[in-house]
Amino acid sequence: MKEVQVNVPGHSYTIKLGSGVIKELPAELKRLNPSSCLIATNITVGSLYLKKATDLCNGMCRTESVVLPDGEAYKDWGSVSAILEKLASMGADRKSVVIALGGGVVGDLAGFAAAIYMRGIRFIQVPTTLLAMVDSSVGGKTGMNMTAGKNLVGTFHQPEAVIADSDFLRTLPEREIGAGIAEIIKHGVLADKDYFEELERDMEKLRALDPETVAEVVGRSCEIKAGVVSRDEKEKGERAKLNLGHTFGHAIEKLTGYGTWLHGEAVGRGLLPAAGLSRRPGDPTDAGVSRV
Ligand code: NAD
Ligand code: GLY
Repeated sequence: MKEVQVNVPGHSYTIKLGSGVIKELPAELKRLNPSSCLIATNITVGSLYLKKATDLCNGMCRTESVVLPDGEAYKDWGSVSAILEKLASMGADRKSVVIALGGGVVGDLAGFAAAIYMRGIRFIQVPTTLLAMVDSSVGGKTGMNMTAGKNLVGTFHQPEAVIADSDFLRTLPEREIGAGIAEIIKHGVLADKDYFEELERDMEKLRALDPETVAEVVGRSCEIKAGVVSRDEKEKGERAKLNLGHTFGHAIEKLTGYGTWLHGEAVGRGLLPAAGLSRRPGDPTDAGVSRV
């Protein structure tokens, strides 16, 4: 197991990464000592992993679940409301904990519901997509989409822990792996030339989910994101770099209808015009732009 620390003002937490780390969930609950916990997931992830997660939590506290519809199109008020209503009906209080079991959509929704229920309760991120492991589960951005645009409503609400078990990736469709790789490439472009070159070298192994490569890449991307977030939690400056490719990406997602392009695919495509625009005469070179 690898651990990466995120330190923001007044709060720090650990990202636990690796094969089989879901077994750390009871230890995290023991540490947090909740009065009850709610696992928020979606229909796809729930059918694969909800029982396992529930069994791990049940020994620690009363555990209930809410199963949302699947897809970016449901990253909306209806889903947030479903989580809030479930929290209220199960009698959740300020000592309760929400567990987000799923990809970035579930993570953003569950984190947002946790941020506003009783003015804020604790939550744990259990990311199940590559994109969520390397990006969305880390850093505390939570929220939902509006008709007017993506992620227009949300909060900064940091999780108590992130548990990223690479075994979940075995059931992830290939297209979703590609979407996660786009955010990974983004980290190389914005933060670390050596990492970018490593990705160029190891891309086939990453696509094939070679365990050592996945461990290395998820760890390195989490370190990069944790570093940026620790220095600029509320996006007053440096954190804006993490939005590389997103201005174009969000436009693609909105204009084509949420879910037509996967978020990661849109960001990956958005990196191309962003790289093109960043080119000034002689710096960076055309060769650099074409490598993106
Ligand atoms: P997603 O949550 O829609 O998951 C992708 C698909 O994979 C879904 O159909 C899901 O049901 C399925 N799935 C998830 N885990 C699975 C598994 N282990 N096996 C089989 N199927 C599985 O998409 P995503 O790419 O994880 O996240 C994209 C979202 O994350 C976007 O809404 C984006 O805005 C958000 N995001 C947020 C941040 C942040 O900092 N909060 C950062 C990046 C992206
Ligand atoms: N994905 C952008 C951020 O976390 O700031």
